[in-house]
Amino acid sequence: MERRPFGTTGLTVPALGLGAGPLGDGRLDEAAAARLLQGALDLGVTLVDTARSYGLSEERIGRHLAHRRGEFVLTTKVGYGVEGEADWTGPCVARGIDEALRRLRTEVVDVVFLHSCPLETLRDPAILRALEQARRAGKLRAAGYSGENEPLRWALESGAFGALECSVNLCDQRSLADALPAAVARGLGVIAKRPLANAPWAHAERPAGQYVERYWERLQAMQLDPGPFDWDELALRFTAHAPGVACAIAGTASLEHLERNVRLVERGPLPASAVAALRQAFAAHDDGWEGEV
Ligand SMILES: NC(=O)c1ccc[n+]([C@@H]2O[C@H](COP(=O)([O-])OP(=O)(O)OC[C@H]3O[C@@H](n4cnc5c(N)ncnc54)[C@H](OP(=O)(O)O)[C@@H]3O)[C@@H](O)[C@H]2O)c1
Repeated sequence: MERRPFGTTGLTVPALGLGAGPLGDGRLDEAAAARLLQGALDLGVTLVDTARSYGLSEERIGRHLAHRRGEFVLTTKVGYGVEGEADWTGPCVARGIDEALRRLRTEVVDVVFLHSCPLETLRDPAILRALEQARRAGKLRAAGYSGENEPLRWALESGAFGALECSVNLCDQRSLADALPAAVARGLGVIAKRPLANAPWAHAERPAGQYVERYWERLQAMQLDPGPFDWDELALRFTAHAPGVACAIAGTASLEHLERNVRLVERGPLPASAVAALRQAFAAHDDGWEGEV
């Protein structure tokens, strides 16, 4: 697995990481969760991205990977859900980090992201102070913002963050033209979330009310031709090798999909003509297609 510098944080990340949202689902049994996490590291997928809100995810990462903590980059997200604290306050961020460390059974998380809060929250000095104090205390290596659009741009320019996480995929390309080049110029590490666009091609009919619905609409509008590639190959190679992306975190609870995703990313960038056609199709149909959180 190709490994890349993560901005100027000093961290090195794999081109493909594990989006550990699905790992949090209680319907996934514990043995399968263990196999997925061990399998990821064995395959060279040495970045695991989680969040406080991903069900059992943090707890399972702690349970099954604490003994291999030196082998992977660990990222989580905070800002809400701490008992006895109002969401999006300094104490909520500070205690959220402490609780994440406990659940993840580690002394340090590599990147702690503020989890997609709006701009007003991001501008609150108490929130940034809590994150910075935790960084100085050695509880995290880099502070990050995970989100889109205006707050993402603010985070980028604020100087308060060493890392960003944003949507980059066939159906969500705006950040390729603005946020990513600016992040690279400023030395921020970038994680691409939703790199498969939540696999909208799998739905013959509109997935009404589902997370993927907006991307499904965009895919219909763009009328893309995948050419000689399977859709997952087209999507993942586009994102994982996009300029400015250090690591693409494909979400999966399936070891089989993870193994396939490793093989796809290892095929390298798509041909330049295919990338140009995908960029052109997005630009031609971009009708207020902002980044999807
Ligand atoms: N606001 C935020 O901070 C935020 C928002 C969204 C996502 N994220 C992060 O980004 C990660 C990834 O995002 P995501 O999971 O929403 O979107 P994604 O990675 O674009 O898509 C995940 C979907 O693709 C399927 N999939 C994975 N590999 C596949 C393959 N080879 N062939 C066909 N289908 C495949 C998965 O199903 P299977 O389980 O069946 O493989 C799952 O349904 C999340 O886990 C999370 O860590 C963060």
